Amino acid sequence: MPDAKPEDSHIKARAAELLAQMTVEEKAGQLTQYFAFPGADEQLAGVEAELRAGRAGSLLFVSEAAEIDRLQRIAVEETRLGIPLLFGYDVIHGFKTVMPVPLAMAASWDPEMAETAQAIAAKEARAIGLHWAFAPMVDICRDPRWGRMIEGAGEDPYLGSAMAAAQVRGFQGHYIGAPDRLIAGPKHFAGYGASLGGRDYDEADLSETELWNVHLPPFKAAIEAGAGNIMSAYMGLNGVPASGNRWLLTDILRDAWGFDGFVVTDAGAAADLETHHFAANKEDAAIRALEAGVDMEMAPPREGGSAFRTLPEALKAGRISEARLDEAVLRVLEAKLRMGLFEQPYVDAERAQRVLNAPEHREVARVAAERSVVLLKNAGDLLPLSRDVGSIAVLGPFADAARDMAGPWIFRQDDSETVTVLSGIRAAVGNDTRVDHSIGVSVPKRMHPSIFENPFSPPLPEITVDDDVEIERAVALATEANVAVLVLGEAQIMIGEHASRSTLNLPGRQQELLDRVLETGTPTVLLIMTGRPMDLKGAEPDAQMMIWYPGTSGGEAVANLLFGDAVPGGKMPYNWPRNIGQIPLPYAHLRSFKPEEEHMRYWNERNEPLYPFGFGLSYARFSYANLRLSSDRMAVGETLNVSVDVTNVSEIAADEVVQLYIHQRFGTSARPVRELKGFERVQIGAGQTRTVAFTLTPDQLRYWSAVVRDWVQDATEIDVFVGGSSDADLTARFKVTA
Ligand code: BGC
Repeated sequence: MPDAKPEDSHIKARAAELLAQMTVEEKAGQLTQYFAFPGADEQLAGVEAELRAGRAGSLLFVSEAAEIDRLQRIAVEETRLGIPLLFGYDVIHGFKTVMPVPLAMAASWDPEMAETAQAIAAKEARAIGLHWAFAPMVDICRDPRWGRMIEGAGEDPYLGSAMAAAQVRGFQGHYIGAPDRLIAGPKHFAGYGASLGGRDYDEADLSETELWNVHLPPFKAAIEAGAGNIMSAYMGLNGVPASGNRWLLTDILRDAWGFDGFVVTDAGAAADLETHHFAANKEDAAIRALEAGVDMEMAPPREGGSAFRTLPEALKAGRISEARLDEAVLRVLEAKLRMGLFEQPYVDAERAQRVLNAPEHREVARVAAERSVVLLKNAGDLLPLSRDVGSIAVLGPFADAARDMAGPWIFRQDDSETVTVLSGIRAAVGNDTRVDHSIGVSVPKRMHPSIFENPFSPPLPEITVDDDVEIERAVALATEANVAVLVLGEAQIMIGEHASRSTLNLPGRQQELLDRVLETGTPTVLLIMTGRPMDLKGAEPDAQMMIWYPGTSGGEAVANLLFGDAVPGGKMPYNWPRNIGQIPLPYAHLRSFKPEEEHMRYWNERNEPLYPFGFGLSYARFSYANLRLSSDRMAVGETLNVSVDVTNVSEIAADEVVQLYIHQRFGTSARPVRELKGFERVQIGAGQTRTVAFTLTPDQLRYWSAVVRDWVQDATEIDVFVGGSSDADLTARFKVTA
């Protein structure tokens, strides 16, 4: 690993020198990334044969230090040119130490925390020999039926951009090839978060207004933060599959944004141009992916091999240009050179063990989990609980579910070191407090199997009880206890990829368990473990916290929050609908018709969300005053400062996420009622006041308008709102002059 950023000219010269020695087959090989599943011996044998022939540039899914080292030795020592392999992996929220899921990290509104967490994930993954994370996932999503919403930062492009850039910095450090870091691969370019009906892999149909203003900004932010790779999406965007979409992959990515890293397809997305009925056959698919701007094909095992295998033939027949092929190969070689693979291709397995077991990584995971939890309700200040509350009934299928605590995209977790909610509470209570546990109802099941019930992970624990009997047991425990803590939600394989849903109900018989426990009248805390809003059918637990999938140290974090050693400070990264029929329900919507009747858009339901974007309670209380603008007017192109005094009017030191929203009153296009344009998570001592300042720059006031089909900044009037949620009412106005 180079300990200083290598000279660009040096890297380029070495890449060109290698390229000059390569056959066309070797070039196509460098552009192919093969699946190498652990345990899939026959398939691996095929991959090894390709590798030895110099026809493999990269592998994914190898996650054992020794195996990476073995395969790398084949590439370096047994191939004609000795070009090392690039090993990629889905390092989404931790490798061995599991951090909270990305949506949870977004709920922390703490980009620095996200950066630190991804730096640790990178360090662990790099130590075992990986070079490249298929992350961050930066798709904006406004439809929680889509299970993959959990991999991103939620519904807002401003928060999404901040989280995208922070994660890239965390993965990569200051330059590609920095010690202990990985190449970051923001994905899925672009529009996947808008798949129809929230159905995974479905097409997306997006106006350019929506694309430029909502879906593309996080990608741009990730690229500006230096991302070395981009993954092209599976789905069709406005009728053109993203992985064959030249407008996306070349006009926008390269020409408009100047991206100079390499583009990989999502799994099989080059060959799938044929599946889309876009390309005529596999060769046509390869040609069109390459010509659109794809550099590398991620190639799952398929009959007849990868699509890019056909490139040598296509070149011979003059159906692709050698210049384009070479450009792609150079990008891949440059990435390898920058990562220092030619100098240090192998893995130090002993060091890897030390890195994976570093206790400070678990500490970071705990703090990250604490910072990401969102307190949604706390009637009568039930929380924080006293450690000496006497008796607690800890109930529900996810109260003691180590595997589920990790959330999706974790394959190598060590369940034995995961602190569950139950074990966290047990370790935290005083000697005289009894903790009883019942799972309450069986862990709910999917209707169709998940693709993640696969060879990576140990088999899923099958926990089934006689629900009728267990519900009664749970109710009896709740009746006897002074407090009930219910942990409900969705299992690890009910969210993430291949895990869309058509309802937001609590799966299985969890609602019944919830209702029955509430009927006991025992004060009840509901902890929701999932990554989307749940429809609780009007059930009203006294206190309610969104704990997401909090990771390895999650149980410790939750216990700290329950007993007041930590104070919740997270905020919702999406609008939480009252019922599923409201979807999509972005907070940043257009006014469009009689605002006084806005709450009446449905005759059977209010229009507003149950919990707005940006919302989250604390054990402390905050008051906002003295909203000040540096001027009540500014010219187009100038900047304006906004500041506000935030006072902690309670006796508990706590964090508040101070948020700035704007609304443009008129202009070239109509703009949303509110748009996030600034935020800062600050700690404020009991009784203390802090002044928080924001700058509104021309960049923040610009937007893409369908009228001019370009970016504009209008001469207009702008309302500013500042507060602790998107429904903040402290407001001021300024003019923007021409
Ligand atoms: C997903 C990607 C992921 C890839 C490799 C695909 O199915 O869409 O996000 O990186 O698999 O695991």
